[in-house]
Amino acid sequence: MLTKKPLNSLSQLQGPKGLPVLGNILQIDLQRLHSILEEWSGIYGDIYKFKIANKTVVAISNPALIQNILRDRPETYRRVSSIERVARELEIHGVFSAEGEQWQRQRQLTMQAFKPEHLRRFFPTVRKITDRLKNRWSKIADSGQFIDVQKDWMRFTVDVTTNLAFGYDINLLEQENDYFQRHLERLLPAFNRRTNAPFPYWHFVKLPSDRAMEKSLAVIKETIHEFVQQTRQRLAQQPEKTVQPANFLEALLLAHDENGVRLSDADIQGNIITILLAGEDTTAHTLAWLLYLITGHPEVQHKMQQEADTVLGPETMPPDISVVEKLNYIEAVAHETMRLKSVTPLLFMEPNRDVELAGVTIPKGTFLMLVNRYGALQEENFTDAHEFKPERWLESNPASCIHNRNASIPFGAGPRFCPGRNLALLEIKMAMAMLCRNFSVTRADTGLPVQEIFSFTMMPDKLIVKFAAR
Ligand code: HEM
Repeated sequence: MLTKKPLNSLSQLQGPKGLPVLGNILQIDLQRLHSILEEWSGIYGDIYKFKIANKTVVAISNPALIQNILRDRPETYRRVSSIERVARELEIHGVFSAEGEQWQRQRQLTMQAFKPEHLRRFFPTVRKITDRLKNRWSKIADSGQFIDVQKDWMRFTVDVTTNLAFGYDINLLEQENDYFQRHLERLLPAFNRRTNAPFPYWHFVKLPSDRAMEKSLAVIKETIHEFVQQTRQRLAQQPEKTVQPANFLEALLLAHDENGVRLSDADIQGNIITILLAGEDTTAHTLAWLLYLITGHPEVQHKMQQEADTVLGPETMPPDISVVEKLNYIEAVAHETMRLKSVTPLLFMEPNRDVELAGVTIPKGTFLMLVNRYGALQEENFTDAHEFKPERWLESNPASCIHNRNASIPFGAGPRFCPGRNLALLEIKMAMAMLCRNFSVTRADTGLPVQEIFSFTMMPDKLIVKFAAR
């Protein structure tokens, strides 16, 4: 429901009371930012304001308003400008941080690398990596050990994403050689810290973590540079029309617009790093939340196993992509996981000009926090909204059950909708089909609840599980 009483200016918007100078800063624990904003949405409604020091932030939780904002890009809204500023400074500027016409061009060219036929060609690699995960878990199941499964999900998604991004088979699942990954892991927290910093402190004083991140970034860029050189040389030896790109880097090197203009070296480097950052944590955290939910609902796990047995027959995992497409129940479990435990519960935007939202005039450049997950947890959008019911995503879901798809948008919406959605779903369905066909999984009773931790993406704090061979 939209706010009934029309308001005119930002000053008339409601919101939690803060302190002079500090604003609401003392009420905000950054790791719980999404939960705090969801609680405030329950109190102050579809649109409200709060202050971080002297900066006014407008929070929006109404799904229809959120959809309008996301659809009205790049003209009227953009990602919060600190994202572009910091990405440019670090030279990791790519399609995620680009805006306006530059984004349009980058999106058009990078989307050539996300075409469905590339995903199909990439399938054998995803299968090979899923097989490594199976072998790893077979040994763990034999040992009867409990493990921190989040680490294995990261190894899995890093192996897939580095292969996809530039053909680098880092093989963390078998070799534990995490040299490149250790450098990459420093990047996202530092990016997050800098985009949210009240002023660019690193221009004046560099903390040890800033220096460590900058050294790591140099290593990452050097590695990517070598791959770009090698790939260029390889492509130069073949007639271009005959090349079928085997990874994102090859597709980027071949991509050109209608005038034949290609991406610059800086654009290629920025987009390779963008894919690594955008594709790993999001998918790994989603897989972790999925295990959290199915270990709490053995009946769901049982149904997934039944589906995997029926669809796979004698195979231990899907042999080709057409088999993955038959895993309807497992896919429904993935959608339900992303509704309840969206790893992107907040999106940060700002308007490019003065706009009106729900009767309120919002000045150009105001920091907007879109409280994405809030709508997905409301009864008015989903019947039994707080319950884990994968069936709601199947065609057999009765019409009497409310199901407002526009209120659950884990991949965003509008023209900047996540281009990695199909790859993420492929990884999730492959991993789950393999898991359910070969193992049962149970969660350790640590006596502590599993907490949601927000740091750009949202993950479980610790998830300890045990596998048993079926
Ligand atoms: C479960 C996994 C994933 C989730 C939940 C997710 C979620 C999102 C969200 C919410 C956005 C912002 C969309 C918007 O602004 O409307 C986004 C953008 C993006 N994602 Fe994903 N993502 C996932 C996996 C991936 C993967 C696997 C890749 C690539 C390998 C990827 C690449 C990107 C890129 C490049 C963008 C920027 C698009 C643009 O600004 O035009 N994502 N993702």
